[in-house]
Amino acid sequence: MNQPITGFSKLTKKEKIEWIATNYTEHPESTKEILYTYWNTDAQLQKLHDEFIENTISNFYLPLGVAPNFLINEKLLAIPMVIEESSVVAAASKAAKFWLDRGGFKTSIIGTEKIGQVHFMYTGDVSKLRDFYKKVYPKLISDTASITKNMEKRGGGITNIELRDKTDSLDNYYQLHCTFETMDAMGANFINSCLEQFASTFKKEAKLYDVFSDEEKNIEIVMSILSNYTPNCLVRAEVSCPVEELTLSKEISSKEFAKKMVRAIAIAKAEPHRAVTHNKGIMNGIDAVVLATGNDFRAIEAGVHAYASKDGTYTSLTHAKIENDVFTFWIEIPLALGTIGGLTNLHPLVKLAFEILQKPSAKELMQIVAVAGLAQNFGAVSSLVTTGIQEGHMKMHLLNILNQLGATETEKKKIVAHFKTNTVSHSAVLDIYHSIKK
Ligand code: MEV
Repeated sequence: MNQPITGFSKLTKKEKIEWIATNYTEHPESTKEILYTYWNTDAQLQKLHDEFIENTISNFYLPLGVAPNFLINEKLLAIPMVIEESSVVAAASKAAKFWLDRGGFKTSIIGTEKIGQVHFMYTGDVSKLRDFYKKVYPKLISDTASITKNMEKRGGGITNIELRDKTDSLDNYYQLHCTFETMDAMGANFINSCLEQFASTFKKEAKLYDVFSDEEKNIEIVMSILSNYTPNCLVRAEVSCPVEELTLSKEISSKEFAKKMVRAIAIAKAEPHRAVTHNKGIMNGIDAVVLATGNDFRAIEAGVHAYASKDGTYTSLTHAKIENDVFTFWIEIPLALGTIGGLTNLHPLVKLAFEILQKPSAKELMQIVAVAGLAQNFGAVSSLVTTGIQEGHMKMHLLNILNQLGATETEKKKIVAHFKTNTVSHSAVLDIYHSIKK
């Protein structure tokens, strides 16, 4: 039975590896070997990565791919994507190429507002609290001057602080609901610093507010934190073309294809089980670019899924229509992204991703990421309503199966050639692999 450890974080990296290998793995020597294999030979670069988080023992690789041919508002881009799932980059590239010949993607920013809240408890007369909030408002702003100075120089800052009475949902619960413009930064640190200052000023000033009774003076700050639900940090991306140009399938006409696409989206709108998978496909594209650009994909996931249920039922994030024989397919999603701060200037591959993307502003990145999501969804749903997903997916997955089997390069070549004209399935790959081995 393993024992708990104290002071693990104080151990050297080698000691940590020794401890984990000895206590938690069956073959400590091979554990150490694999962890060392993934260390970077450039000690400086390795140190940089080690210092991103705590208790690092090695690096965890994910592939970085590129999907070329994305025409976005007349600008041609290649989009870097970090993802482990086969066929995502291929599907994105295919969709990009398809729309390249049909006018490309059109995008626009609907809003860039970020949100943060100070959650507090107040017991007493609400009208007195409202008066106090009005009185203290200028001080809330002035006390954050040193935090907001640089952001204001860049054109951002605090845009509003609102007192919200939440006592309908929880006794004595109120908020300072605050909005921000954070320009090219995702803004988490800026927002949280402002919020903590608001909380401190609010609490301190309440103590000095003579109109309050002793109980009312005792405002309890529960927490101050940004919200990852940013429904007003919104971007739209769209593709459209005459229905007759939807020549994607050999099996069905473009008219039939357009109808099936619209029906598939209608199903994702109507039915949460389908909507979740439909949106997961969108997130395949979104997360891959969010990761490649060093942004926080958990924040994006949380915000996007909350948006998908904003009207009370979880539903599709994409929309489709046929009007006057024109097929239009679009997405509208909240994406609070940054192109400065965080990992963006630290991780060499993130810096490179930004260079490949032609150094976008946060607004431009929002548009690129929305396009990646829309393209991914177009790719997935167009396969689903025609050939099915497995054909393309298994073709891409073939190399993973062969690598798992330990196939040699010559065996791989032979087997890949065989499946150019045959359907890939796990058992079919096993059969041919074993027959070649014999
Ligand atoms: C798989 O990663 C994504 C799909 O399931 C998306 C979808 O069903 O729309 C193919």
